[in-house]
Amino acid sequence: MSLSAIPLPAGATLQAGRGGLPCLAIDTPACTGEIYFHGAHVTAWQPHGHGPVLWMSRHSAFEPGRPIRGGIPVCFPWFGPHPSDPSRPPHGFARLSPWTLDRVERRIDDAVAVTLSLRTGADDLRHWPHPCALTLEATFGRQLVVALSVRNDGDSPCMFQEALHTYFAVGDVRQVAIEGLAGTTYVDKVRGGEHFRQDAAPIGFTGETDRVYLDTESTTVIDDAAQGRRIAVEKQGSRTTVVWNPWIAKAKAMPDFGDDEWPAMVCVETANALDNALTLAPGDGHRLQASIRVE
Ligand code: BG6
Repeated sequence: MSLSAIPLPAGATLQAGRGGLPCLAIDTPACTGEIYFHGAHVTAWQPHGHGPVLWMSRHSAFEPGRPIRGGIPVCFPWFGPHPSDPSRPPHGFARLSPWTLDRVERRIDDAVAVTLSLRTGADDLRHWPHPCALTLEATFGRQLVVALSVRNDGDSPCMFQEALHTYFAVGDVRQVAIEGLAGTTYVDKVRGGEHFRQDAAPIGFTGETDRVYLDTESTTVIDDAAQGRRIAVEKQGSRTTVVWNPWIAKAKAMPDFGDDEWPAMVCVETANALDNALTLAPGDGHRLQASIRVE
């Protein structure tokens, strides 16, 4: 179906976005929002009465073949570097692929639900031999609910990792505390991938932070003292939470991330990664969901 044949409800507008990439803009009494078809990438969500909840880099690329920096990148079918081939793109091909807009619906509570889909293509299959059908549903309302569904369309078991790699806008990361992960074991990528156990205190930020919290289904809360705001991230179908801030040197090393932008963001990612990778039998499916609200 061509894009113009998809009926759009009031409050949803098809646009040529940055770099000329197609996107859908949402504007309803509940919120404003934006999603690009490139990567099925949510780039904005702002419930009325609040500031922007998602962070976007001013230096992000918006072009085919490159990831968007900020918002909610969809990582699939691997997380971080490819497990055996460093020439493959980090965090997989889903965030680099053009997704198809399937439908847009307005709900009774003024939320707008946008559904996009992706089938693994011939180029993907050369490097990752599993035909899969992916669906991303983003519901923009007083809450933002993002769900990634994966179905194994092949005839052998399919193992994958995935993440909704959400960048949150904060006043100053040095005054942020993340609650909800006390007692959880994490892999610390900044300390050589060693395992540690989170103590009872909320997570604070005093340097580069890159942690993969395993076997946790807990809701996390981002307590943003500088903005006087709390954001809750509730999840379903997710056993991993990743917490990331690049700090000074890593921010400088990334071409699509401004040198001075790191204090204004923190990633809290709803994932299944590392030891929590999933295996789907032929025909089986899995749904990963994050529900984000300002408290
Ligand atoms: C995080 C990883 O999820 O994503 C970090 O844990 C990584 O190690 C970060 O640096 C950003 O990745 P990328 O590929 O978008 O630069």
